[in-house]
Amino acid sequence: MQLNINGAMQQVDVEPDTPLLWVLRDTLGMTGTKYGCGLAQCGACTVLVDGVATRTCVTPVEAVEGSEITTIEAIGNDPVGRKVVEAWVDNQVPQCGYCQSGQVMAATSLLKETPNPTEEDIAAAMTNLCRCGTYNAISAAVRQAAEA
Ligand code: FES
Ligand code: FES
Repeated sequence: MQLNINGAMQQVDVEPDTPLLWVLRDTLGMTGTKYGCGLAQCGACTVLVDGVATRTCVTPVEAVEGSEITTIEAIGNDPVGRKVVEAWVDNQVPQCGYCQSGQVMAATSLLKETPNPTEEDIAAAMTNLCRCGTYNAISAAVRQAAEA
């Protein structure tokens, strides 16, 4: 199977129903995308598929063949993603950090779709869980990235 990941074609020999998360982490060694629940609940495994936040623990790899996949490893190459990362640093959002790659991907997806989000838009889009409770900092960083 051929996958377009971070602008490069990758050949992977995996079963078509393998979750994309395991192809990224185990087959390709891209461990920035995290495993949390495996049930599409927490968002730790979020990447962008054609610019849209996608929970990879429940996404069979065959579903994304032909799509553009962007992971946290390359989010700085995306103009919106770069603004998000800068805002995350400015606001010192991460605590333990485990959920943060997924949070950054969710925020980037939101701002690509809705460049000037309302508080309601942010609340509706930022549904990834954070056990460290960084939600207020996440909200502030999303607003800063939108203004930037
Ligand atoms: S690991 Fe995919 S949503 Fe939790
Ligand atoms: S920063 Fe620790 S889980 Fe979110």
